[in-house]
Amino acid sequence: MKENIALIGFMGSGKSTVGKHLARSLEMKFIDIDKEIVKIEKKSIESIFKLKGEEYFRKLERNIIETESKDNNIVIATGGGVIIDNHNIKKLKETSYVVYLKCDIECIYNRVKGRKHRPLLNTENIYETIKNLYEKRKLLYEISCDFSVDINSTTNIYDTVSKIKQNYILS
Ligand code: S3P
Repeated sequence: MKENIALIGFMGSGKSTVGKHLARSLEMKFIDIDKEIVKIEKKSIESIFKLKGEEYFRKLERNIIETESKDNNIVIATGGGVIIDNHNIKKLKETSYVVYLKCDIECIYNRVKGRKHRPLLNTENIYETIKNLYEKRKLLYEISCDFSVDINSTTNIYDTVSKIKQNYILS
């Protein structure tokens, strides 16, 4: 069994919410990579993208993943783009059981459409943007994980947490 659990998945798949519950239930610490970035930069993710660009954000993300994955007994909620950098997955896998929250597109769309804090979804046609990005990333999520759990609009969070917990303990 690995020391940590890392949650990956598209924006809106529930990484932070599931992560908090999972950490509580396993008596582990909870870390949210985006929140760490906001704390360090003292700026919102949106402002970082706007003022310094995506590349700068990705560098911060990479540095924090590298630092946090050295810690132990933690559940890590990553940002949806963590899988685009191979180095991140390599680092996470050294110490973490990587779980993919495989949320379907309809569910993602319904969860993110009213929210304005995700710079990559700040577009005219959010549904199309999600679909295109999801297509580009889905294989990366699949090949990066040790375990995946299906999520749709009717999924109960406690079932998700319990599935992850069981599979982690048996790993
Ligand atoms: C991103 C996802 C976001 C955040 C940033 C970029 C992405 O995190 O890291 O806006 O590239 O998918 P969430 O997945 O928590 O929304």
